[in-house]
Amino acid sequence: MSDDLNHSEPHMAQKGPYELEVQEGRPYLWCACGHAETQPFCNGTHRATSFLPLVHHAEKTETVYFCGCKRTKTPPFCDGTHNSL
Ligand code: FES
Repeated sequence: MSDDLNHSEPHMAQKGPYELEVQEGRPYLWCACGHAETQPFCNGTHRATSFLPLVHHAEKTETVYFCGCKRTKTPPFCDGTHNSL
């Protein structure tokens, strides 16, 4: 495990949300560790960390804002916490 992955805090992928349209009925695996190169989605990099991804099942087709700072209190969505970082 590299030192960069060995932290109790998630990595900040970006200081702001990812605006994306999700499709009704589809699952989305949100990256919680912040290290995935496929932001805001998981690519398995968390296996070297203590974090686990979170599944969001879209109930309707709509635009959502996935948290990029990985410090939201309402994962997987942005709650504005990034504004105080
Ligand atoms: S991007 Fe994380 S709270 Fe907004």
